[in-house]
Amino acid sequence: MIGAVPESPLAPESAPESESAPESESAPESESGTPRPALLAVSDLHVGFARNRELVAELWPRTSRDWLIVAGDVGEFAADIEWALGLLSERFARVIWVPGNHELWTHRRETLPLRGVDRYQYLIELCRRLGVSTPEDPYPVWDGDGGPVTIVPMFLLYDYTFLPDGVTSRQEALERAHAAGIVATDETILHPDPFPSRQAWCQDRLARTLARLADLPAGVKTVLVNHYPLVREPTRVLRYPVYAPWCGTVHTADWPTRFNAAAVVYGHLHIPRTIWHEGVRHEEVSLGYPREWTRRSAPPVIPRQILPDPAER
Ligand SMILES: [Fe+2]
Ligand SMILES: [Fe+2]
Repeated sequence: MIGAVPESPLAPESAPESESAPESESAPESESGTPRPALLAVSDLHVGFARNRELVAELWPRTSRDWLIVAGDVGEFAADIEWALGLLSERFARVIWVPGNHELWTHRRETLPLRGVDRYQYLIELCRRLGVSTPEDPYPVWDGDGGPVTIVPMFLLYDYTFLPDGVTSRQEALERAHAAGIVATDETILHPDPFPSRQAWCQDRLARTLARLADLPAGVKTVLVNHYPLVREPTRVLRYPVYAPWCGTVHTADWPTRFNAAAVVYGHLHIPRTIWHEGVRHEEVSLGYPREWTRRSAPPVIPRQILPDPAER
C-alpha cells in the first residue's frame, strides 16, 4: 500500500541495546494484585504495512484507565490515520497524538489534496472528531501513578540544524546527503505551504510551542512528546549520519531540563530504546517497518510504559 516509502536510512544494522531494559509486557500491579493504570506510548506504527496493521489491531490497553501517546508516523493516508486513531481511541481512556513527517506528506495516491498547514489542520479536526488530544488542544494532566504530570504533545518539525560531524551548513549537509543518495522523501512531498520552507514552518512551531510552555505554572512536571528527538544524542547511532538534518532541531536542546520533563517521548528514528541525557529519560517508542522489527531477536515492545517509571516499580 505504501510501496513508495523508501528503505529506512535511520536504524543502524543492529539496533543498540537499550540503556535500560524495556519494561515487561505485563501491567504494573497494585498490592492487591490488580493492574494499575499506566501512561503508555508508541510511534511509527506505519499502518500501511499489513503486518503493522495486524499489530495495531491487537493493541489493547492493560486496564480501562490506561492512556496512550501516539508520537507520529501512524501512516501516510488520512483514511489509514483515521482507522488507527479511531480504533485506539475506542480502547484507551485517552489517546494523545502528534504528527510525524509521514502524516504530513501529500502522497500521490492520497485522495485528500491538502498540503502543509491545511493538511495539518485537517488532521487536527479529524482527531477532535475522534476525541484524540493534539498539539493544538489543552495539555492533558496525568493523575495516575507517577503524576501529576502535564503531557505536552508538540509538533515542531525540523530545521536541518542537526548537522553531521564535519559539516557546517545546511547547504553542505544537503550536498552530502545527495551525494550519498540518502535524501528524505520529505524534500518532495512534505510541503510547507503557506510557509516558504520547512525551516520557516519549524521556526513558527517552535515559537508557538515555546509560548505555551512558558505559560505552564512554575515547577510543573511534564512529559514532552514530539515525533523527533528533542536532543541530538539519539541521532548519534544513525546508520547514515547524513540523515540527521531531517531528525530535529538544536533549538530544543534545553527544553527537557528547562521544562522539568519527567520523560521525553519521541519516535522517527526507528531505534526503540531508553536513554538518559542530562538526568532526563528519553524514550524512543517506535515500532518501525516490518523489515526492521522482524529481524531483531526480540519481538517489538509496543506500547512502552512511560509512567509510572517502569524502573521504579
Ligand atoms: Fe517512521
Ligand atoms: Fe518519521
